[in-house]
Amino acid sequence: MSIELFRNDHHACLMFTDLIEDHGEAVQANQFLVVDHGCGAIIDPGGNLAFNELFLATSRYFTPQNLDYIIASHADPDIIAALDRWLTSTRAQLVISRVWERFAPHFTKVGKTDGRVIGVPDAGGKLPLGQSELWLLPAHFLHSEGNFHFYDPVSRILFTGDLGVSMMSGAEAARPVTHLKSHIPRMEGFHRRYMVSNKILRLWVRMARQLDIAMLVPQHGAPISGAAAIRDFLDWIDTLACGIDLFDDRAYQLPTARIDPVTRHTGAPLRAVGG
Ligand SMILES: [Fe+2]
Ligand SMILES: [Fe+2]
Repeated sequence: MSIELFRNDHHACLMFTDLIEDHGEAVQANQFLVVDHGCGAIIDPGGNLAFNELFLATSRYFTPQNLDYIIASHADPDIIAALDRWLTSTRAQLVISRVWERFAPHFTKVGKTDGRVIGVPDAGGKLPLGQSELWLLPAHFLHSEGNFHFYDPVSRILFTGDLGVSMMSGAEAARPVTHLKSHIPRMEGFHRRYMVSNKILRLWVRMARQLDIAMLVPQHGAPISGAAAIRDFLDWIDTLACGIDLFDDRAYQLPTARIDPVTRHTGAPLRAVGG
C-alpha cells in the first residue's frame, strides 16, 4: 500500500512501507516515488524482495518504463540490490555517489549500466525532475562513506536514508511521529552503531538547519513530521555519541568465542539490526 506524503496538481511524493512484510528475516524498509509534471524518480528502491510490488504499485501512478531516475542514497543491498531488474524494466538512469559508481555494476549483468550511471560528486548538486529539482545533499558517513540525502523543495520533505531510522513494522512505519521523546528508544541502538561519529552528525545538523523541512523521512521506520519533532531530532543527534566515539581497544581483541553454525540461524526476526 502506498502512502501519499504530499500531493498537488503536478507533484506527488509516495512512500511504500510494507512491500517486504512477508519476509520476517529482512529488516523493514521504505521505498519512495517522487513525481513532478509526469516525470518520476524512485528513491532507494530496495532489493529483490520489494521489486515486484514496487514496480506494480508504481504503475498505478506512473508508467514505470518512463521512469527518469533510480536514486540511491548509498549502495547497500536494501537500497539497490534489485538494480538489474530496474535497469531491465525501465530506461531510468542510476543516480549514486561517485564513491560507489564503479561498484554498482556488480549488482547487474554485464553492460547493463553502460551510459546509465550519474556519479554524484561529494559536494552533491541539484537534479532536474520535471519542472522541479531534487537537491542531492552531502551525508557522507551517515552511515555510508559515499552517502546522499534528498530534499524536495516542493513538498519540503527531506529523505534521509539510514539517518532517522527506527525499528518497527511496516504498518507502524506508515504513521508519522510528531513527538520525538518517546520515539528515541526505537532509534537509539541503530544510530549508536550505524552512524560513524558525532563529528559527522554535528556537521550534517549545521547544514540541515538551513533547510525548511516539513517532514524528515528515513529508509526504515516512521517519518518524523512537524517543526517541533524535527527540531528535537536535530538537537538529539547533535550531541549523540556514536560509531567510533564508542569504540576503543576493547572492540579489537582477537576473538575467543565460538560461532556455532547451528545457532547462527534461529529463524527469529531481526530486531535492532538494519543498515
Ligand atoms: Fe538501510
Ligand atoms: Fe545502509
